Amino acid sequence: MDQSRASEPPAPASEPPAAVSQPPSAATAGAQCTVHVGRIQHLRQHHLGLLHEAELERAQRYQLATDRDRAMLGAVLLRLAAARTLGVEPGEVTVDRTCDRCGAQHGRPRLPGSGLHASVSHSGDVVAVALTAAGPVGVDVEAVRPIDFAAVADRVCTPPERAEVRGLTDFYTVWTRKEAVLKATGEGLARPMTDLHVSAPSAAPVLLGLGSGAPPHCQLTDIPVADGYRACVAVLAADPVTVAILDASEILRTASTSRQS
Ligand SMILES: CC(C)(COP(=O)(O)OP(=O)(O)OC[C@H]1O[C@@H](n2cnc3c(N)ncnc32)[C@H](O)[C@@H]1OP(=O)(O)O)[C@@H](O)C(=O)NCCC(=O)NCCS
Repeated sequence: MDQSRASEPPAPASEPPAAVSQPPSAATAGAQCTVHVGRIQHLRQHHLGLLHEAELERAQRYQLATDRDRAMLGAVLLRLAAARTLGVEPGEVTVDRTCDRCGAQHGRPRLPGSGLHASVSHSGDVVAVALTAAGPVGVDVEAVRPIDFAAVADRVCTPPERAEVRGLTDFYTVWTRKEAVLKATGEGLARPMTDLHVSAPSAAPVLLGLGSGAPPHCQLTDIPVADGYRACVAVLAADPVTVAILDASEILRTASTSRQS
């Protein structure tokens, strides 16, 4: 079987943290959220055999190989992580990507009938997949790029947030907290980021405001995925949610072993 990568990745970054705990079983997933963190360097040609035709076709629409690989790894990891949690084969997981706005298959991923909520994010060479039964979830990963954040901060931050953003990392901390919330609500960037108010980058992550009403119950957790990246996961739930960050290289390696045997 062809062991080559699906295509060339960009320059590697440092490894994500090793697994800090085991994934929860479906029975205990309610108070937990797992975030599988993978690198596109770990994507192998045979992983693509786990995907359904529509997922492959969708990924093939990307012009750039790195965009394709990110999309394919997100879809592969979603199947592998959900399959492990649910105790089924990856190909048996039903993934529905119906867009709430137009009905096309490019929206947030849903796992109907599983009791699990899911979210996928990719940036640079990192891909993250969050799964939880606790409530709608959103994960956002951003590679910290040397942008002129001052030029765009007013489109992302409210005035109180802007006053707390003292550098590039602070900016990406605020960005990922907000995008995680908007992915959990399913609105995405259709809602202006200045409609949300989150706590200062130096403080624990909290959703302080969303639109004009009281914010929904939201458990926000900044997550360490790799050096040079910021990431956050949001779960719309009233009770605290424990987040387990899992190095996806193991689940990807196991998938390759089981297909070769
Ligand atoms: C969701 C969104 C914020 C992602 O932004 P990003 O930083 O570029 O990308 P990320 O890597 O963090 O996330 C991409 C993933 O978000 C998921 N996603 C797409 N739409 C989503 C939504 N409305 N809510 C939550 N997640 C969504 C998908 O899984 C996607 O990955 P995939 O296509 O490989 O499966 C942005 O694409 C967006 O706002 N989309 C919705 C806009 C919209 O509603 N448009 C109407 C189209 S008709």
